[in-house]
Amino acid sequence: MARVAIVTGGTRGIGAAISVALKNKGYRVAANYAGNDAAARQFQAEHGIPVYKFDVSDFEACEKGVQQIVRDLGPVDILVNNAGITRDVMLHKMTKENWDAVIRTNLDSVFNMTRLVIEGMRARNFGRIINISSINGRKGQLGQVNYSAAKAGLLGFTKALALEGAAKGITCNAIAPGYINTDMVAAVPKEVIETKVLPFIPVGRLGTAEEIARCVTFLAADEAGFITGACIDINGGQYMA
Ligand code: CAA
Repeated sequence: MARVAIVTGGTRGIGAAISVALKNKGYRVAANYAGNDAAARQFQAEHGIPVYKFDVSDFEACEKGVQQIVRDLGPVDILVNNAGITRDVMLHKMTKENWDAVIRTNLDSVFNMTRLVIEGMRARNFGRIINISSINGRKGQLGQVNYSAAKAGLLGFTKALALEGAAKGITCNAIAPGYINTDMVAAVPKEVIETKVLPFIPVGRLGTAEEIARCVTFLAADEAGFITGACIDINGGQYMA
């Protein structure tokens, strides 16, 4: 039987490309989403990948969502923690709501989802956890104290869980995308992208969601069992750790 993968935030942007790439590799994929029903319906119709609506920042909602996915597809072998939001604003203007929303959706979600699949992975001696971090969790970013903190938090989570899972066939890795051509980057003022971002990308362009997705399929493979605790930067040379 094909392995089962969940992709959070899996119907749009980088997540959609990941869902499709995993499906094309033969996995049974569940694409989670939180709000945009129209995009999810269109994604499902186009790609034939089942979609599951629940809020990854809410532990009880995740519990119900994961239970449903297990009933429909079977035990979860691969979890891609991709869901993320931005609330970009300088710290001196940031509200508690801006902080909480980003930490809950981008970091608490990773605890919620991973906690719900890890016991099964340990019992079956196989698992692949792939956390989508960000260049801005690696280097920091003006206007993103909340986002950078959450994305850096993912890197600590990744390394600690890699140690815990190593003897049980479970790998845990992070990918840190740079600026990718998605709605999230399109929300950054155009002038900022043109003057403060693009000139600092040596490859000379934004990345594509598919360029992130092919790294996810690489890490998800059964053959990738010796790669764990790593963070793979995919940023066109913009930042080298
Ligand atoms: N890099 C470097 N400098 C930046 C910058 C950036 N990304 N964004 C803004 N600045 C600069 C501005 O050009 C400006 O400098 P000058 O005064 O010299 O012109 C200064 O910072 C203040 O910026 P604003 O005048 O725009 O101030 P503001 O308070 O109106 O808005 C802001 C500040 C909210 C940070 C806004 O500029 C913004 O949204 N910037 C983009 C932040 C960003 O890069 N977010 C990444 C989103 S994509 C993502 O998160 C995906 C991922 O993982 C990579």
